[in-house]
Amino acid sequence: MSSPRGKLWGGRFAEATDTLLEVYSASEHYDRRLYAQDIRGSQAHARMLGQAGVLSAEDVTAICAGLDAIRAEIEAGDFPWDPALEDVHMNIEARLTARIGDAGKRLHTGRSRNDQVATDIRLYLREAIDHLRAVLGGLRAGLIDLAEREAETIFPGYTHLQSAQPVTAGHHLLAWEAMLARDCERLGELRARVNRSPLGAAALAGTSYPVDREMTAKELGFDAVIDNSLDAVSDRDFAIEFCADASLLMMHFSRISEELVLWANPQFGMVRLPDAFCTGSSIMPQKKNPDVAELARGKTGRTYGALMALLTLMKGQPLAYNRDNQEDKEPLFDALDTTLATAKIMAAMLPQLAFVPEACRRAASQGYPTATELADYLVRRGVPFRDAHEQVGKTVALAVERGVDLAELSLDEIRRNAPKADEDVFAVLTLEGAVAARDHIGGCAPAQVRAAAGRARDRLAAENLEPTHG
Ligand code: ARG
Repeated sequence: MSSPRGKLWGGRFAEATDTLLEVYSASEHYDRRLYAQDIRGSQAHARMLGQAGVLSAEDVTAICAGLDAIRAEIEAGDFPWDPALEDVHMNIEARLTARIGDAGKRLHTGRSRNDQVATDIRLYLREAIDHLRAVLGGLRAGLIDLAEREAETIFPGYTHLQSAQPVTAGHHLLAWEAMLARDCERLGELRARVNRSPLGAAALAGTSYPVDREMTAKELGFDAVIDNSLDAVSDRDFAIEFCADASLLMMHFSRISEELVLWANPQFGMVRLPDAFCTGSSIMPQKKNPDVAELARGKTGRTYGALMALLTLMKGQPLAYNRDNQEDKEPLFDALDTTLATAKIMAAMLPQLAFVPEACRRAASQGYPTATELADYLVRRGVPFRDAHEQVGKTVALAVERGVDLAELSLDEIRRNAPKADEDVFAVLTLEGAVAARDHIGGCAPAQVRAAAGRARDRLAAENLEPTHG
């Protein structure tokens, strides 16, 4: 019996591979997206072997040129992907040998698919993180600009989703920006842990060839070599960490989305979403639905799913490489695709939010939001805070009973429970007065919002995120 047809590992096998296994184990339909990283890694490995005297200069030249031609072939859509060759690595290697002959068969000297795939994923994820951070940077810049434009817009501040105290819309937008700034920071920290080279660890134990791991690491732009060969091929912490960071990011998008769904609801009417990012109903002609927000909220779940899948994938694995690891890619790629697509559409949509100032003001004035102002006013006039709290509570009850706002009570009515109140009390009962009084770092006063927007812009500039157009 001959060895399994076309297999690069067929030597010790007498029988052909069952087609069920071929289908079960093939990953080329999803790991082919690593082709560019795989080729770069192979070229670096070949050049290093040339330097070490393991490969001849002619072989290195033939391998590098052959791989360049294969990259062009893949990008032109002409590459003959073959699921029987399992994965992206063996598809490319088999094709290389078909093109350049024996030199192609020498490429895999001193290497294993185990260090190869770990290298590819790290290179791919590094680029994806840079892209995602750049898109988030653009989104943050848009939010900062919008916050500045809405620095004076009176807006309801909620606790328990009950109107609590008035804030400004710009202040709320800068809270969103702060969440996304932490996401960028986290991804930047992760990038440093992703950017280390497993190449040279070979299957698990290292290799007896005189490999120069520093050389390949440097050529591929890695910051360092991963010390321990067993760890280098088996570690997928970085993929789990990405899914954790992605989950946090999506959780933020989901919270933002929930707010958009509420604000855009005609019963709130505080924000108009751009038509280009809403859809209608096939039956109800009046409808304008906030689909982007709902989809983002929904897609958050699949990202949490990716995180759980990877944690579970790794939890029972003994050192070093196990085939289980092939299952790392689909959840990781899905988390990447989901976060990137969500960040892009949010970056396009959020800067176009149109606040409706009258509706925001109306919502902000509901539910006695200046009651705390009244209490603070009484405290300034010598009433102990607990007593002031009690007096204001009674005043609110009176206003509820009369169906009016605090500012609509007469001075006599206010004095009935809060005898220290005077004519000037009405100044603190306005929404503008309440927000302007929060005039400290991180407060919602318009002047503070403008200052905070300036600081946020400075921080963003200092992060040096690559500008991107999508
Ligand atoms: N496709 C495999 C993966 O993604 C590549 C490594 C396979 N190594 C092995 N010894 N079978 O994990």
